[in-house]
Amino acid sequence: PTTVSVGQLAKLLNVRLRTLQRKMEEAGMQAEMSYDYVLTSDYAALLAEEFGRHPIINDEAAFDLYPPSPHPNPQTLPSRPPIVTIMGHVDHGKTTLLDTLRSSTVAASEAGGITQHIGAFCVPVKTGSDSESTIEGHERLITFLDTPGHAAFSAMRARGTSVTDIVVLVVAADDGVMPQTLEVVELVRREKERGKIGMVVAINKVDKPEADAEKTKLALLAAGVLLEEHGGDVPCIEVSGLTGKGLADLVETLAVMADVMDLRAEQDCPTVGCVLESRIHKGLGPVATVLVTRGTLTPGTPLLAGTSSCSTRRLLSSSAHPLNSVGPGTPVLVTGWKSLPSAGDEVLASSEADIKRARANRQRKRELESVIGGVEAINAARKADKE
Ligand code: GTP
Ligand code: MG
Repeated sequence: PTTVSVGQLAKLLNVRLRTLQRKMEEAGMQAEMSYDYVLTSDYAALLAEEFGRHPIINDEAAFDLYPPSPHPNPQTLPSRPPIVTIMGHVDHGKTTLLDTLRSSTVAASEAGGITQHIGAFCVPVKTGSDSESTIEGHERLITFLDTPGHAAFSAMRARGTSVTDIVVLVVAADDGVMPQTLEVVELVRREKERGKIGMVVAINKVDKPEADAEKTKLALLAAGVLLEEHGGDVPCIEVSGLTGKGLADLVETLAVMADVMDLRAEQDCPTVGCVLESRIHKGLGPVATVLVTRGTLTPGTPLLAGTSSCSTRRLLSSSAHPLNSVGPGTPVLVTGWKSLPSAGDEVLASSEADIKRARANRQRKRELESVIGGVEAINAARKADKE
C-alpha cells in the first residue's frame, strides 16, 4: 500500500490509537492525527521507526540501495590486504611514521619522488626474508590509514561499519600514555567485543634522549593493555618514525597478524566501499578517497554515497597513477562526483537508473527528517519556555 490511515497504522504497529497520536503530537503532526486521516508512506514509515519498526513498503518512496548479501562460502574467497589504521595521541608521530614507511617502500618498488602526504595508501612490503623458513621473503600488500580523518572513523563506528583490521597504537616514548592514547585503548576494547580486530603498540620516538620506553610500557599495563612481554597478546615494537628504526619489525608483525586473521573478500560482486575523505580539487572537481571493501571498482561504474552520485571518471592510486580496476582492501581516489560525499558514507554501485531513484528518496527522507527535527526543536523550546 502506498498510503495508510492513522487508525490502520496503529493496528499495524499494534499500539493504541492514543499512543500513536501522542507520538504524532510530539512530532508536530496535530493536523494529521484524526483516525481516518490518510498518511503518505514517508510519514507512516517515519512513525513506524519511532516505534522501533523497520517497515518494508513496496513502493517507490521506499526504494533504496543495499550492499549485496554476504557470500555463502567466505573461506573460498580470494585474500585481500589487511587494513591497518594508525591511531594515537596528537603529535605522537603517526603521520611521520606513515610517511617514512611509505617513502621507504615506494622508493624500493618504483620511482618515488612523492613527498606529499596521503592519508590512505596500499604498499607492497617484503616480509619473511630473515625468518628461519627456507622460502625467500615474499611481497605482500598492506593498506595503511592515517587518522586525522576522525570524522570518517567516528561515523563508521557509529554505524558499526568500521573497516579496520588492525590498529597500530602509536605512543611517543618521551610523552607517554596520554588522554587520546586511552581513548584508542577503549575504542579497541569495544570493537573487540563486536568482532575481530587486532592491536599492535608502536612505542615511537625512541631516538630521543628523553625517551623512556619502559615507563611507557608500564603505563600501558596500568591502562589494561597486556603486552606480550607482560604475558599478554599485544605485540609491542620500539620504533622511530624519524630514523626508520624498528619499522621493518612493525611491518613483519602486521604481516604475521594478517596471515592469522586470514582476511578474504569477494571480488566479483557489485562494489561496496566507504568514503575516507573528500575535497574539492582545483582541476578534478569533487574527489573522494574511497576504500573498496567488496567487489572490483572500474572507471565508468555509477556510484552512490549518501546523496552524492558519481559516474567514476578516473581512479587514481595514492601515487597518482591511473588504475583500471581496484579490488577489496584498497584505497583509491575517485573522480567524477556530482557533489561532495561525506567522510564515513557507505559507497554502493548500481545502475544509473537505480542510483537516481535511491538518491531522490534519500534526499526526500533527509528533508522530511529535518522538518520533523525542526518541529521537535520548536516544541521542546516551547515546553522549556512554559517551565
Ligand atoms: P597529529 O596528526 O597532529 O595528531 O600528529 P601526528 O601524530 O601525526 O605527529 P607527526 O607525525 O605530525 O609528528 C609530530 C612531531 O613529532 C613532528 O615535529 C615530528 O617531526 C616529530 N616526530 C615524529 N616522529 C618522531 C620520531 O620518531 N622521533 C623524533 N625525534 N621526532 C619525531
Ligand atoms: Mg598526523
